[in-house]
Amino acid sequence: MSRTSIHGEWSSRTAFILAATGSAVGLGNIWKFPYMAGQYGGGAFVITYLLCIAIICLPVMMAEVMLGKLGRSSPINTMYHLAVENKQSKIWILLGWSGAIAGFLILSYYSVIAGWALAYVPELALGTFTKVENMPTAEISPFVDSIFNSLTENPTKLIFWHTSFICMTMFMIAGGVKGGLERAVTFMMPALFILLLVLVGYSMSTPDFMRGFQFMFNVNFDNLLYPNCTEQACELSGDGLLAAMGQAFFSLSLGMGSIMVYGAYLPKNASVSKVTTAVVLADTSVAILAGLIIFPIVFSNGLEPGAGVGLVFKTLPIAFGQMPFGTLFGTLFFILLVLAALSSSISLIEPAVAWLVETKKFTRISASVLSGIFVWLVGLITVFSFNLWSEVKPIGGLNLFELIDYLTANIMLPLAGLLIAIFTGWLMKKTIVANELNSSVDSFSYRIWYFLLRYVTPLGVSIVFLNAIGVFS
Ligand code: PHE
Repeated sequence: MSRTSIHGEWSSRTAFILAATGSAVGLGNIWKFPYMAGQYGGGAFVITYLLCIAIICLPVMMAEVMLGKLGRSSPINTMYHLAVENKQSKIWILLGWSGAIAGFLILSYYSVIAGWALAYVPELALGTFTKVENMPTAEISPFVDSIFNSLTENPTKLIFWHTSFICMTMFMIAGGVKGGLERAVTFMMPALFILLLVLVGYSMSTPDFMRGFQFMFNVNFDNLLYPNCTEQACELSGDGLLAAMGQAFFSLSLGMGSIMVYGAYLPKNASVSKVTTAVVLADTSVAILAGLIIFPIVFSNGLEPGAGVGLVFKTLPIAFGQMPFGTLFGTLFFILLVLAALSSSISLIEPAVAWLVETKKFTRISASVLSGIFVWLVGLITVFSFNLWSEVKPIGGLNLFELIDYLTANIMLPLAGLLIAIFTGWLMKKTIVANELNSSVDSFSYRIWYFLLRYVTPLGVSIVFLNAIGVFS
């Protein structure tokens, strides 16, 4: 039963917390959470997201880390070992496969968006946004829009930045667990956190801080349940709830094998529940901080909270253009955002790379290069979704980038979370589970976790799914 990982181990429990936080904290918190909250009307989205984290995702995350720690290999092989040991069907390796596929798909667009952040580094360093300081408010929004659009409408620029980001990811991944992953996150996470606090300070000084605050915490479920309201008609839709749940999974890197594979490198004596709780708290606070920074800027400058994927890129540069030392802070911020994205992107591809190394006997370098080329190619779909193919909307009015995002975050990740809950809560031997969590089967916290995992998670995810396909309306 006692396997060891052939890829190495984290040097300590703290190293795991930093790495898993590195995986969790990324574009999901700073880019995606604010624009989704903006699109789905604020408070109700935020509350649903927080609830999903507490009662659905936290138990799943503990289960996922634990499965990894037991399996000590890539998620595909981990699921194989665990299925055999618990006398279950080998079909469970599909859970590992779905993770690897979701990882490729997510990274394919993640890299394009991270490329935007990369493109904003020189923009800020050269002081492009200092112009907003003396601009009348009415001109600010068209100005930031034009800079953003000139990037996204230009496939050549997007490809350049997308390629650069993929190369950075491959370089890091090739470095291996300790060399590549661990070193990078150790200094980056604290630095990002400090810069976010500086930005909160700025936001509190804007005239509409309270409005931004209320937007985030005033709960009005109409906005979430009727996201597509027009003057003529309001249609009840389960999409908002699904989006909030999907965002919770996405933000915590769950249901994809990232957290499982990181768990596989966890030292044997580390406590799963403690490290997991630490990661969840860090991830959630970064998302909330990002919202508290962005919405006051939105309202103070007459921007739209529902501006969509460009929200962060259209708000933060205004702040940097106006605040003292903005050029310095702005450049630093986008560099840190790229690094935060990088520590997430390596975790998106690590499950596949680990599998290629274990099973197909690739070296880490060749596995990284091969996966990188593949992801790069798929990423072109997203690149063109913002320009040449922006009108290609095969299903549900979503363009190709939005479809990939919907399929992965809203369907694949929660579905895998549901299966992880069923596998761990219903099919694994109770004693193995309790033993791995260093817990007695009777302890209070263990019983709560087990109850949430067996009943609340499967029911919660199923209800949100069924609701989204209109079963309850
Ligand atoms: N959690 C990461 C973020 O918020 C994205 C991610 C998703 C990483 C799934 C790994 C797995 O940016």
